[in-house]
Amino acid sequence: MGSERKAPEPCSIVIFGASGDLTARKLIPAFYHLCKEKQMPSAFRIIGFARREKTDESWRNELRAALDQFSRTKPVDEKVWQEFSANLFYCQGDITDAAAYKKLEERLTSFGSGPLRENLLFYLATLPSQFGEVVEQIHRAGLLNKEGSAWQRIVVEKPFGHDLASAHALNRELTRFAHEQQVCRIDHYLGKETVQNILMFRFSNSVFERLWNRNLIDHVQITVSEKLGVGQRGGYYEEAGALRDMVQNHMLQVLALIAMEPPVSLESEAIRDEKVKLLKSIRPLGPDDVARQIVRGQYFAGTVNGLPAPGYRQEPKVKSDSNVETYVALKLFIDNWRWSGVPFYLRTGKCLPQSASEVRIQFRPTPHVLFAAQCDLKLDSNSITLRLQPNEGISLHFNGKVPGMSLGVRPVRMNFSYDAEFGAYTPEAYERLLLEAIAGDATLFIRRDEVETAWKIVDSIRAGWDGKPLTNREFYAAGTWGPVAAEDLLAQSGHVWHEPQQLT
Ligand SMILES: NC(=O)c1ccc[n+]([C@@H]2O[C@H](COP(=O)([O-])OP(=O)(O)OC[C@H]3O[C@@H](n4cnc5c(N)ncnc54)[C@H](OP(=O)(O)O)[C@@H]3O)[C@@H](O)[C@H]2O)c1
Repeated sequence: MGSERKAPEPCSIVIFGASGDLTARKLIPAFYHLCKEKQMPSAFRIIGFARREKTDESWRNELRAALDQFSRTKPVDEKVWQEFSANLFYCQGDITDAAAYKKLEERLTSFGSGPLRENLLFYLATLPSQFGEVVEQIHRAGLLNKEGSAWQRIVVEKPFGHDLASAHALNRELTRFAHEQQVCRIDHYLGKETVQNILMFRFSNSVFERLWNRNLIDHVQITVSEKLGVGQRGGYYEEAGALRDMVQNHMLQVLALIAMEPPVSLESEAIRDEKVKLLKSIRPLGPDDVARQIVRGQYFAGTVNGLPAPGYRQEPKVKSDSNVETYVALKLFIDNWRWSGVPFYLRTGKCLPQSASEVRIQFRPTPHVLFAAQCDLKLDSNSITLRLQPNEGISLHFNGKVPGMSLGVRPVRMNFSYDAEFGAYTPEAYERLLLEAIAGDATLFIRRDEVETAWKIVDSIRAGWDGKPLTNREFYAAGTWGPVAAEDLLAQSGHVWHEPQQLT
């Protein structure tokens, strides 16, 4: 996390799943930009591994065409590409075939006996069911060791299992031949600028830090809304649902960063210890709590962007009587000294009116409203909005006097926008995460106990839903802010959902 990072050591990166979508769309553009920004190690090689027949040259050509499409800066800088692509190599093989790993080992050895052969980052851009096999095979081929002066690390992407039991099994496989510290679990949300800024904002500003507790905060709202429906991802979504897809990872991670105690240092383990402690303080949910505190929903046909949108059950690869939730709202309590009694409301859904992610910290109202007679509207209490996307930034909401002779009062807003303050340079989340993986800083990666604690929460909610089909009150029209039951969830405590702000 420190601002002065030492230069990353020379290394080789092996991508399993080199012919896949993730490699072309995210990984290679991220490495290309790291190269452009002169952030890559002084020497590096990238070896792509997959079954399809390709040569180094044909793989490079395919990636060059993909870069035209997926690069965040256009046009592609030809000079940088030439320099970068000279380091790309392809190794054809099947993950289950020991001989293919021998070939891989020979390729790495051809780079010499130094760090390009010994410092190795393995990116597993394949199915999670293949992770165990890859880890065992690279270990057998002498490419992954627990000890030694060089380093080897494994990078994996969510999903990290589909429940606690499968997450346990996956974690066991990943750490059979590697230490936990060698495993980088990526949640690309954690690579975003503002998510990191949550820590900076909270722990480098005494003015806000003092407000951050049950004495002044009334409740917290975390919204991650998506305008699009599931589209072509119906098959995946039928197995996942909003709770597994968004809450288990992104939303609980954001909650942990918002609510955790200050870490003793910026060491990755210190930060991750605090996140786990926070997740463990979330009050457990029994079946009755789930009925009272968790609302799920599913969209039916409606209107999005002025155009008719199909219902979830009409989407391709979705069962016509599916009970999968495309929306979920949670009311959680954190049983610790700081947060006792403060509700944390989380909501996420598809086919909502806006695509936005934000955290709203709602402060308690003033003890006595002096200006009641002057306000036509009920005066809003103060709030801070941390906007994660789009237009990353922070805004403070307070009440101001309307100019003029009378004593009119109106809510006003102070905005901080990243782009306006620092210009538009915002590296893609993957760029930051890949660089951290190469540098060996684990802060932005999710530790095994974080994953498992989050699954425990999600499993208890799923157990509460088990065998209960969706009721009428749980459906919402595409293009609206979710089921009416979600409004009621807040209304019980006199709260309302706030729509994400359009910060400009
Ligand atoms: N795409 C994304 O944006 C995204 C985002 C988040 C997470 N993920 C995760 O990342 C992983 C990869 O996703 P993807 O979308 O890139 O999938 P994909 O397009 O289906 O690619 C899968 C890759 O795995 C390779 N592969 C499959 N079986 C193999 C075998 N037996 N031996 C060697 N290579 C094999 C395939 O190459 P061959 O067919 O040539 O062997 C292909 O390169 C998944 O776990 C996914 O959940 C993806």
